[in-house]
Amino acid sequence: MERFGASFLIAGVITFLLGFFLQGVMPVLTLTSIPTRTIEEMASPVTSHFVQLAVDYPEEFARDFGEVSEATHAEALELGRDVYVAEACWHCHSQFVRPVSNEDLRFGPVSSPEEYQNLMNLPHLFGTRRVGPDLSREAGKHSNDWHAAHLYAPRSVAPYSVMPAYPWFFDDNKRPNKRGLALIAYLQWLGSWIDDSQLAALGDGGMQ
Ligand code: HEC
Repeated sequence: MERFGASFLIAGVITFLLGFFLQGVMPVLTLTSIPTRTIEEMASPVTSHFVQLAVDYPEEFARDFGEVSEATHAEALELGRDVYVAEACWHCHSQFVRPVSNEDLRFGPVSSPEEYQNLMNLPHLFGTRRVGPDLSREAGKHSNDWHAAHLYAPRSVAPYSVMPAYPWFFDDNKRPNKRGLALIAYLQWLGSWIDDSQLAALGDGGMQ
């Protein structure tokens, strides 16, 4: 064995350098050419569901966010993202449609690096497991009311769900509080930048 020592050392060093180049240097080179977008930029345009939230929950919306605007949309998205991180939703949900296993048929267009180059995605929320569906194309899949019912009691709309209930996003009248509204705004924003025609191209088989 001893005479192979040097070969193993050289092979090890080469493998390390290759890994460092492919997984360290290459991504940095790719991403530095894409400008990092701010939360305010990501909040524009305001989604129709954010406008609808103000209609669905007028008193709560006025109390927590005031008027519908790009500024309040940005505030809601940032808080919603922070709540998503704090509650560890990412422990069961990914935000990354991979180019394998026909994931694009289920979730929509495969994710691209450019989608992550913005301050809404720091930290990255690729997720660790997939107990629940990928959420990167969640915008508009369900109504605001559905999300409210689902967060309050997942089994009220998805009978066999193993998702925990989050009653602390609601006040005593079961109306969403500020964190609840922000989280729904965030979920309805995820993937709203994807062109409708790209989703339509999926046909009946996609976006269940
Ligand atoms: C223990 C794992 C788990 C955790 C933690 C979890 N979920 Fe889920 N989630 C699921 C499962 C399983 C489903 C599929 C069944 C259902 O619709 O409830 C789901 C479904 C969903 C859906 C519907 C997706 C679709 O397209 O139909 C949304 C939205 C969602 N979760 C958001 C969240 C948010 C926000 C949090 C954190 C506050 C969260 N989840 C935490 C497991 C989880």
